[in-house]
Amino acid sequence: MNYVTGSIIKELREKKKMTQKELAECILVSDKTVSKWETNRGLPDIGIIDELARALDVSVAELLTGEYKENENRSANMKKMLFYVCPVCGNIITAVGKGSYSCCGITLHELETEPDDEQHEIKVELIEHEYAVSMQHPMEKTHYISFLAYVTSDTCEMVKLYPEQDVIVRFRKRGHGMLYGYCNRHGLFRKRL
Ligand SMILES: [Fe+2]
Repeated sequence: MNYVTGSIIKELREKKKMTQKELAECILVSDKTVSKWETNRGLPDIGIIDELARALDVSVAELLTGEYKENENRSANMKKMLFYVCPVCGNIITAVGKGSYSCCGITLHELETEPDDEQHEIKVELIEHEYAVSMQHPMEKTHYISFLAYVTSDTCEMVKLYPEQDVIVRFRKRGHGMLYGYCNRHGLFRKRL
């Protein structure tokens, strides 16, 4: 099990430009105590981890794992939507900014996207007010398109797909954005609209 380390407390404290004394005052311990933690001569009690995380502006999970994320997408523009997929159960998580997410006990990494290729071509046809989005791709149990998504600056629509199904989905036209298709074997593909 991961537990908070002295170096992560120090790193986060310095990032917040706080002195040991200031941090100590926030969580009602002495500055000596903070100094002990940071030099690995002691560990904070589990009972104050919550307060410590709050004082350092991270989540408890981030504090314990030491994997905290800096969010560049502070305005939370949906166009920068990130996708996370659990390799064990296939759970899909979408986020408008970086974060620490885990599923089935695994820390997930955001999926990298690549432009659609020959095997994963995302075809779009405008039919009245809808985009008919399709992919010619195997839909076998072990290799299939698991979802299609249409993301604009203020919306994200996702349709889950299952083996044996055809890869064709209709999205209401909302203007410029990005289409995504996720193959469980080859990853996340995108096409600009
Ligand atoms: Fe594929």
